[in-house]
Amino acid sequence: MPDTPIVEKTVTELGDTTPEMVAIRFAELCSSFDVEMASQSADPESWKSFLVKWTGRKSGILSLIGENWLKSAPKELKPIVGQELNRFKRHVEAALEEKRREIEAAADETATARDRIDLSLPGVERAIGTRHIIRQTYEELERIFLSIGFSVVEGPEIETPYYNFEALNIPEHHPARDNMDTFYIEGTREAHLLRTHTSPMQIRTMEKQQPPVRIIVPGKVYRRDNPDSTHGYMFHQIEGLAVDTDITFCDFKGTVEYFVREFLGPKAKTRLRPSYFPFTEPSAEVDATCHVCGGSGCRVCKFSGWIELFGAGMVNPAVYGFVKYDAEKLSGFAFGMGVDRLAMMKYGITELPLLFQNDVRFLRQFP
Ligand code: PHE
Repeated sequence: MPDTPIVEKTVTELGDTTPEMVAIRFAELCSSFDVEMASQSADPESWKSFLVKWTGRKSGILSLIGENWLKSAPKELKPIVGQELNRFKRHVEAALEEKRREIEAAADETATARDRIDLSLPGVERAIGTRHIIRQTYEELERIFLSIGFSVVEGPEIETPYYNFEALNIPEHHPARDNMDTFYIEGTREAHLLRTHTSPMQIRTMEKQQPPVRIIVPGKVYRRDNPDSTHGYMFHQIEGLAVDTDITFCDFKGTVEYFVREFLGPKAKTRLRPSYFPFTEPSAEVDATCHVCGGSGCRVCKFSGWIELFGAGMVNPAVYGFVKYDAEKLSGFAFGMGVDRLAMMKYGITELPLLFQNDVRFLRQFP
């Protein structure tokens, strides 16, 4: 730079003898600083050497002016040199500060640009899964019974023999009480057990609530069965109970037929076969025409045309005695369905264990 050497000289050596000449000298220096400043690129190396050149502590131009121009200036020029030097210093500092801000802002902007989320990019699709086929079947069953005025209640899986058996009119030596079927909780054989059906909730509900009662009870039940393609130690039931002052066998049959048509389709027919449960009298097995052949006979229904659906019956008046209901005035019906069985039948699943192995290749078939 042609300017550089002048700061090595003194004011006198430069031939500046008046304040005006000093002012012009500074004005020229200032404009060459401005020109150089304006041509600065973003390159950090050249920016660094620019800073050293103008503001370096030892041999930067500002320092050299202080050293060579100010200190040795003749007495009458000292004030103007000092004044002009200060002004130039402030100018340089202000310019550098502005540049620093510019650089920071630019860095911020690149960071923001780097972090910006491109909303137009296709997202990562995560599989959110589906409801399990048992859950779907429960929801279907609940939909049907809610539509005719039933409501859903749930109860404990750990029960006492009183609720699981006694209050349901299952006497002490009934085969259902045999410990071949029931899981008793360790130690006290009589204290607690895993419920073998959802029927205990009939008792618990009637104890708490006066008629009319119209409930369904979804839930898990447990039996000591040897596992095979249709048995496990746990399965799902849905219990139903309706009790009121004027419920007849007709209401029972009508409800069952409505359910069967809703669940299997409008063409399905219903048949009641005599059966036995200690807590219903009379008791029945509810059969429906085979959903595969429509009743003409096939391998699924073992060529009978009928499929067994669930057990049911009119509430045995003996049960009302346990819950202090008036057996003279009240009547009702109850049913207990195996939800796993119903799902397997409806969707043609032949292996019960598939329902509990959580293999997505199986579960995906029921979206
Ligand atoms: N609790 C019976 C069972 O598990 C089913 C049932 C319920 C039968 C209600 C009649 C009335 O086998």
